[in-house]
Amino acid sequence: MEALNYSLYHLHSIAPRHSKSLSIAARGLSGQTYKGAVFWDTEMFMLDFFLFTEPEVAKTLLKYRIDTLKGAKTKARDYGFDGAFYAWESQEGGYDACSDYNVTDVFTGRPMRTFFKDKQIHISAAVVYGIMRYIQFTGNKDLLREGGAETIIECAKFYYSLLIKRVKSEKYELYDVIGPDEYHERVNNNAYTNRMAKFTFDAAIKLLEEETENENAESESEKKELLESFRDAVLHLYIPQPDEKTGIIEQFDGYGQLEEISVAEVKGRLLHEKEYWGGAYGVASHTKVIKQADVVTMMNLFSSEYDMETLYKNWAYYEPRTEHGSSLSACMYSMVACKCNMPDQAYPFFLKSAKADLGDGGKQWAGLIYIGGTHPAASGGAYMTAVEGFAGLRIENGELTAEPRLPKGWNHLKFKINYLGELYQVTVTKDEAKVEKL
Ligand code: IFM
Repeated sequence: MEALNYSLYHLHSIAPRHSKSLSIAARGLSGQTYKGAVFWDTEMFMLDFFLFTEPEVAKTLLKYRIDTLKGAKTKARDYGFDGAFYAWESQEGGYDACSDYNVTDVFTGRPMRTFFKDKQIHISAAVVYGIMRYIQFTGNKDLLREGGAETIIECAKFYYSLLIKRVKSEKYELYDVIGPDEYHERVNNNAYTNRMAKFTFDAAIKLLEEETENENAESESEKKELLESFRDAVLHLYIPQPDEKTGIIEQFDGYGQLEEISVAEVKGRLLHEKEYWGGAYGVASHTKVIKQADVVTMMNLFSSEYDMETLYKNWAYYEPRTEHGSSLSACMYSMVACKCNMPDQAYPFFLKSAKADLGDGGKQWAGLIYIGGTHPAASGGAYMTAVEGFAGLRIENGELTAEPRLPKGWNHLKFKINYLGELYQVTVTKDEAKVEKL
């Protein structure tokens, strides 16, 4: 509980309440690590806390993305794409702080070419996800009118311009990307990325269908054309599915053929303790060992699309292959464990997130780059696990509902949630959950 309280305290203290359009850096206010830049950490890991407790702060965070659309459009154009390609490490104006050489090789002392900035295209979908989640929980479409709608359409245009169709194939694919697992660079059809691109197309279609005539900048013919394109994309985009025999979703094309080896064995191959595990010749790059939750992150977001057995199989398959080298990883495993009704298995992962700054602080180095400091995404992940995992909070048919999945040693959990402009009290005991409007 102390660790969870620390997480809440920390999130509260870094909320940009003094602004109407500002986000939170990946290391909060704890130092210069990551150049003070904003990552997908905000939308995918911190947003729920603010959405549930202070929706106006959630709006401020998303407004930062909307107001930096210009930077994202410039980035897309620079790479020869349409629409909006958000910065991997976003700084003022939405321009990318991530350099082409983001890791220093410990052996040569030379900068190594990494492709985070160029290939982590899932960042644009995270922005769309954040905006849609805001609408879902506040019921407020103000953000759409304040640039959110344009942002979503531009992100969908971006993915549309990236789709690849081979001559003899019916499906559309996304090639040469990096998914959440940064150790495997430049892969094809990363399941998380493809599914998030589909999420973006779905969101854009919904908007265009709901838009009343002339509400936005697009002319009727442009709107019709966009709708046709996005519907076609949704229909044909390849989304990796669970293997018929094993139930496992392949993280990306060819992942199954990589070397089968334990995390400990990969670690044993290091020649230097600060050596970078990923990139062109990293110790993990040619193995199945991944840096952080990837397929499991996708399954957490879209858990309703899978049965519990499939959720469990993927959780059990990927966890031993995950280094948890990012503080963003553990909470995804705790969330999915809760969704598999395994709160006791979820608990150590929850603790890892909640204690990210209280223990040894996780990884301090990526090559020779210092990456220590506080971990607000892990704090957000701890909150999400408590509320959405252990208390099982979710929306069902438009209603806020909860389901007890408390771990051993927890007898009850009580918290308040903002939903559709009303405040709710949620009380969860071992075998009962109550959601009451206050
Ligand atoms: O956004 C994360 C990324 O997923 C893993 N490396 C650190 C970044 C900042 O927390």
